[in-house]
Amino acid sequence: MITPSVQDDDLLSELRGILAGEPDPIANAANVASLIYARLPRLNWAGFYFLQGETLVLGPFQGLPACTRIALGQGVCGTAAARNETIMVADVHDFPGHIVCDAASLSEIVVPLTIAGKLSGVLDIDSPERNRFSESDKELIEAIATLYVEACEV
Ligand code: SME
Repeated sequence: MITPSVQDDDLLSELRGILAGEPDPIANAANVASLIYARLPRLNWAGFYFLQGETLVLGPFQGLPACTRIALGQGVCGTAAARNETIMVADVHDFPGHIVCDAASLSEIVVPLTIAGKLSGVLDIDSPERNRFSESDKELIEAIATLYVEACEV
């Protein structure tokens, strides 16, 4: 476990405040996407896809318009959801089946979301910089996803 930096702690505290007392998954997703996009540098997309049957459907996000539906097992998002594990891609051109939404995206991290024991979607973050996400970024973004899930489970 990597010790979170002071800045990461600040971001997580800010997020706790924003999520406090609000269980609505769409309202919370909108604020989480906004906070990530506003606070983490060198991103070009941050948002959610929610599982409907076997398909991930676009939810709240910040960035350019994105593809609306991704089948489970397809692209980085569908693969992270199908495996139920975080996937970090240093260069999306090296990920077979990567789905291009914004051609500027070069690296990507996708964290699956399990609400009340059920896979409910993914948090997806893209950067125009190759290899943008470190192990400590992964821990931070997973901590953000956990706070989101906990808020929605109340
Ligand atoms: N690149 C993703 C698609 C979603 S966008 O990046 C917003 C993928 O391969 O699943």
